[in-house]
Amino acid sequence: MCGIVGYIGKHAAAPVILEGLSRLEYRGYDSAGMAVFDGEKIQIKKSVGRLKVLEELTHGGATMPGSIGIGHTRWATHGAPSDANSHPHYNAEETIAVVHNGIIENYLPLKEKMISKGYRFVSDTDTEVLAHLIDYYYKGNPLEAITKVMHRVQGSYALGIMFAEHPDQIFAVRKDSPLIVGQNEEGCFIASDVPAILKYTRKVYFIENQEVVRLRADHMHFYTVDEEEITKEPVTIEWDANAAEKGGYEHFMLKEMYEQPKTVTDTLSPRIKDQDIVIEELGMSDEEIRAINKIFIVACGSAYHAGVTGKYVIEGIARIPVEVDVASEFRYRDPILEEGTMVVVISQSGETADTLAALRESQQLGHKVLGIVNVVGSSIAREADNVMYTWAGPEIAVATTKAYSAQLIALYLLAMKFGRVRGKLGDTAFHNMLEDLKRLPAQIEMLLANKQRIQRFANRYIGAKDVFFIGRGIDYAISMEGSLKLKEISYIHSEAYAAGELKHGTISLIEEGTLVAAVATQDGLFKKALSNMVEVKARGAFVLAVTNEGNTDIEKAADYVIYIPRTNQYFTNSLAIIPLQLFGYYVAVGKGCDVDKPRNLAKSVTVE
Ligand code: AGP
Repeated sequence: MCGIVGYIGKHAAAPVILEGLSRLEYRGYDSAGMAVFDGEKIQIKKSVGRLKVLEELTHGGATMPGSIGIGHTRWATHGAPSDANSHPHYNAEETIAVVHNGIIENYLPLKEKMISKGYRFVSDTDTEVLAHLIDYYYKGNPLEAITKVMHRVQGSYALGIMFAEHPDQIFAVRKDSPLIVGQNEEGCFIASDVPAILKYTRKVYFIENQEVVRLRADHMHFYTVDEEEITKEPVTIEWDANAAEKGGYEHFMLKEMYEQPKTVTDTLSPRIKDQDIVIEELGMSDEEIRAINKIFIVACGSAYHAGVTGKYVIEGIARIPVEVDVASEFRYRDPILEEGTMVVVISQSGETADTLAALRESQQLGHKVLGIVNVVGSSIAREADNVMYTWAGPEIAVATTKAYSAQLIALYLLAMKFGRVRGKLGDTAFHNMLEDLKRLPAQIEMLLANKQRIQRFANRYIGAKDVFFIGRGIDYAISMEGSLKLKEISYIHSEAYAAGELKHGTISLIEEGTLVAAVATQDGLFKKALSNMVEVKARGAFVLAVTNEGNTDIEKAADYVIYIPRTNQYFTNSLAIIPLQLFGYYVAVGKGCDVDKPRNLAKSVTVE
């Protein structure tokens, strides 16, 4: 996520902005910039790299005098990290400056329209279109111009805006991306998040969707998108600075779990247009899609687990054979990639050494590679022939949650797109799946609300020595991720097993009280799952079952049941993984482990 800070008041704006942006560094970013009105004009300074580069460029803000300004740390979504793509963006005359957090979903048609009207673009970003649109609608009234743009733009945005012709005010605008404003005796502030201005004030206003705030040095006015003035009540922040960075959550991992509904929405909605799936970045014609006769999915860790789900989903929906491999195996087994084989690599960081090597190996063998990546401009994103971004925003916790959920969405979209083009997915089935996809964010939200129940159950297993996760088909893939979440942050040994495989050896490990988490979301395999639960119960296991609402027969075989809302059978991983993430998290918290930074682990394994 990008970071926004704005200030208008009695003091120099640049140092206040730099200080505020430094409090947002935890959000992750790849470039930074500021715009300050110096009494005559708007000065803009921006650079790719850490905030320190901007501080040095402006001598701590000293070279940008003025008491009104906006600043930004950019987490790239559209346009790789570069000076030109950094924010603030501005109109040709540099009399309007904008900083933005979010995704403008219809920026391409808007950009084409502005170019046809003679506007010249200097960046690859979606944000720049806002600066030119505001310029286009600005006839002297900033609020009128801003609200006209709001009526025409689709997507998510938190904006800081300033006008050289109105150096006594700055504007804050919000739709879906969080934004707050605050005030003290020295001035008024805009910020993406509380930590940026906690040093100056604890009294803040949370801007709601489609609201505009006009900030002057000593007061603020709030408006709707129809320019009607409204009143808002301030909120007093009780958090300390450390808690504030996590949005009040105890750990980044919990915060990121709760961001999953938005992550799913942000990855999904830009790719659903007029009730169809449009994956512009795929770079493949329908003919090329029809020519695919095999798909290789290659990744590591949780990304590999997403890939295993991808196998079941793509084979089930698009009827294309899929092979999944861990990158560290793929790259050394002289893989057989024949004509018509498509390679897909999945990586949150885009820097995992084994996955990057697998990408290069595939390209050396003459195959194009599609990257499903979260970090824009990362090595895998740059070297893949085509990139499908997951738009989960920066993921701080080592144990992935929101990026994994976004990877699943990307794979569902691919499977449905391929199934549609190859004539394997009829209109009714496609439409029903689309509706099921759109319901996932709200269903995830509902499961997250269940955290207290999961926490109570998790507390029983803080002392566990061995935990087994079992499932069949997609439920096996879910088990893999559930098991990894538990073991990597709680250090409790855990294994995921294809449920039908237990009796071929591992069942000998089941003792009185051993916890077995049985995932049973595939109705076609439900009876088999039941018999596997009975098998382990007969040997003393305590069975935690995760299944679809309505499958109450499971209560005959399970000791503890977590129900997930009904969805398409191919999408159940997106829901079943939520209680399993919470389970692993609360066991680790109960054990006092360092949840966000587990021992021996790195967020990105950039070495073999
Ligand atoms: C998952 O919680 C772990 N952090 C780890 O398995 C991770 O998924 C793996 O290292 C792959 O990382 P990547 O997605 O950045 O390539």
